Amino acid sequence: VDINESLHTHFGLAHTRWATHGEPSAVNSHPQRSDKNNEFVVIHNGIITNYKDLKKYLITKGYEFESETDTEVIAKLIKYLYDNRENDSVTFSTLVERVIQQLEGAFALVFKSRHYPGEAVSTRRGSPLLIGVRSEHELPTEQIHVQYNNVQEKNSHNRTDSSNAINSNEDGRAVEYYFASDASAIIEHTNKVLYMEDDDIAAVKGGELSIHRINRQAGDDPVRAIQTLQMEMQQIMKGNFEAFMQKEIFEQPESVVNTMRGRICFDTNTVVLGGLKDHLKEIKRCRRLIMIGCGTSFHAAVATRQLLEELTELPVMVELASDFLDRNTPVFRDDVCFFISQSGETADTLMALRYCKDRGALTVGITNTVGSSICRETDCGVHINAGPEIGVASTKAYTSQFVSLIMFGLMMSEDRLSLQKRRLDIINGLKMLPELIKKVLSLDEKIKTISNELYQQRSLLVMGRGYNYATCLEGALKIKEITYMHSEGILAGELKHGPLALIDKDMPVIMVIMRDGCYTKCQNALQQVTARSGRPILLCCQDDSELMKNAYRTIELPQTVDCLQGILSVIPLQLMSFHLAVLRGYDVDYPRNLAKSVTVE
Ligand code: F6R
Repeated sequence: VDINESLHTHFGLAHTRWATHGEPSAVNSHPQRSDKNNEFVVIHNGIITNYKDLKKYLITKGYEFESETDTEVIAKLIKYLYDNRENDSVTFSTLVERVIQQLEGAFALVFKSRHYPGEAVSTRRGSPLLIGVRSEHELPTEQIHVQYNNVQEKNSHNRTDSSNAINSNEDGRAVEYYFASDASAIIEHTNKVLYMEDDDIAAVKGGELSIHRINRQAGDDPVRAIQTLQMEMQQIMKGNFEAFMQKEIFEQPESVVNTMRGRICFDTNTVVLGGLKDHLKEIKRCRRLIMIGCGTSFHAAVATRQLLEELTELPVMVELASDFLDRNTPVFRDDVCFFISQSGETADTLMALRYCKDRGALTVGITNTVGSSICRETDCGVHINAGPEIGVASTKAYTSQFVSLIMFGLMMSEDRLSLQKRRLDIINGLKMLPELIKKVLSLDEKIKTISNELYQQRSLLVMGRGYNYATCLEGALKIKEITYMHSEGILAGELKHGPLALIDKDMPVIMVIMRDGCYTKCQNALQQVTARSGRPILLCCQDDSELMKNAYRTIELPQTVDCLQGILSVIPLQLMSFHLAVLRGYDVDYPRNLAKSVTVE
């Protein structure tokens, strides 16, 4: 398209896609089409879990697939249903209704077809979808009555008044409609939106918007009202949260699912990271795995190191990018170097990447930003798919980096017989993760209360060991960066080598003690702290009454597999840092002296 050319388009269909099935490429882009003549095209947000069965069926019917996406089955399926329609009066909406009866999974869809000119049909299940309405004249109605196939009454199908559709052509002035997953995508055009319910089918035909559903069930609300959003763009993106950081903390039940989506098959216990699969043989033969990052991204490497050592049986080094470069660390052709970075632009990490590339190592990016420098310059990689992270303090990117590295370990160990039981436990743990994260998030009020007791302190120590050491480092980093309190993550094994001198009755110390291989050693550390009148705030497993006896305050967490526990144990500290910063009166999203993307050395 020549961008200077003025367009007279009445309909546009586009989709910004986080690749789940199939790499980002022209053929995998949306819209997906039914055939070379574009008889039907569709864009899709979500994932179709039964796409393989549908694809198999459609192949037996002679359909040829061109992409690796799950979405393509939808385009082919609607054409199949059209080609086999009982008569010519079948409407576009009816075809879509038949399509969604065959689909499993989550979807928001918008369809267009040559066979139904001037018409677009949209539907959703599980994935969000709203309709923006923009009109220069007052609309005849501010709500639409849903039309049901199984109800023929004055309130629905046969209504003669204008309330079962929004008409765009009154006085010849058009109404514009926008289908979008999120209000932030359309707020610059209109603040009038109508939220679709699961299985609603919305059709714009000849400029008129109507919504129908297959069957009316008891309790269904037959009205979709147009709402006027009062918020500015920034607020919409923030939703009901006070800060982006808080919103991002609460997004973690979904963001970890997005990281796993399309990559873990819970039926076969297999993990496939599409961006690494072609390099797996080479990675398995390597001399060392070197994990490189800065700040929070470095902590994700610390958090997963032990499991990677266990599952890959390779030496795993974890490196702060700046220190790695300062040391001119020896790197060899048969090393595999991971560059972990939310932004994909951190200068230190990028320079370490170039350093390793020059030495012939295989380079792997673990990033959240598609198209970033680290993505482009690495040989292969994994997109963590956590969604945009706006708060300067990294939260959901950490847990998604954590999950990505765990998935890498699982992929590396798929053919190791002796590790199958362990793998199964971890995969089951990953499946349960979103629910457990929700449980941890429900502790927010309690954490706020504890924060209230702490916010005037000058210093806060965070202590633990083993799988939860990274939580201490990461929790302390969160606290210092947004509350400006001094905070230190301490390895409990080092306590008697110095930090114990800090402990007295005034020093608040958070101790992370989970039921894992380090439990007894952590109990000893707790004894040493209480013996010196310390005031431990315990992060421990639910119902650990023995441990709780010695605590000044406790935050009880659900238990999961040892190597995943760090995902749960970090969340209370994310929440606590947020509350402490608010109580101290600081801007949580924009801490002083810091930037989201550190593109200078
Ligand atoms: C802390 C934080 C920073 C970043 C670090 C690396 O909350 O956000 O420590 O983790 O600057 O940034 P990325 O991950 O973008 O390379």
